[in-house]
Amino acid sequence: RGLKRDFGEVENLQVSVKGPGDFVTLADQKAEKTVFEELSKARPGYGFVMEEGGVVEGTDKSHTWHVDPLDGTTNFLHGVPIFGVSIALVREGQVIAGVVYNPAVDDMFVAERGQGAYLNNRRLRVSGRNKLTDSLIGCGVPHLGKRREHPRFLDELDTVMAKVTNVRRLGAAALDMCFVAAGRYDGYWERGIKSWDIAAGLVMIKEAGGFTTDCDGGQDMLEKGTVCAGNEAIQAALLGLIKG
Ligand code: IPD
Ligand code: CA
Repeated sequence: RGLKRDFGEVENLQVSVKGPGDFVTLADQKAEKTVFEELSKARPGYGFVMEEGGVVEGTDKSHTWHVDPLDGTTNFLHGVPIFGVSIALVREGQVIAGVVYNPAVDDMFVAERGQGAYLNNRRLRVSGRNKLTDSLIGCGVPHLGKRREHPRFLDELDTVMAKVTNVRRLGAAALDMCFVAAGRYDGYWERGIKSWDIAAGLVMIKEAGGFTTDCDGGQDMLEKGTVCAGNEAIQAALLGLIKG
């Protein structure tokens, strides 16, 4: 609720010279505080890995929340309603539950291991397209501060663009993953992301019948901070294009 209110305020602040920058940072921190306090009450002892607050060790060493209180910060800052809160629960290294919520449009994606993935209570399923030429692929574009990553990304983009219908860039990795789970995207890849960006999405895609690997084809997505996702056929084909 707080983020939604603050998003409304950002739209007013757009016109000021200073812009909404500091205000957005505060909105982000407030959202994280809310999530941290509520989850600490609900599951005392679980640890945290949070975008703003970093690592908080828990007394329960087998459970950790991975929290991004505002994924899609740049969109939020610019008044683009594509952002969300992403929360994942990791047990013994495995993501067992995930929630991604976009308060601007009230979209709630939830998944739990073995229980399926849902958008606002509707069961999700990855797409059935199996040819790259028919597929819509999401990706992440490294921002200005990651200038050194630009050449590799441009190479990959060039390779992928030559094979698929088209490419999209939402600006919120957690939602990109949910779009794969919902069958909107047939595949998605990104490098240089953090566990809190993708952990919830990993269980979402799995529970929707999809596949995920890191960009080398292994299962170290959270550790390496790379991901290649999709339905079975497109994930494999996309990985073939970007691997190495
Ligand atoms: C970013 C978004 C973006 C992705 C970046 C992330 P933030 O998260 O998910 O889509 O390309 O790698 O850092 O900074 O908006 O929380
Ligand atoms: Ca993020």
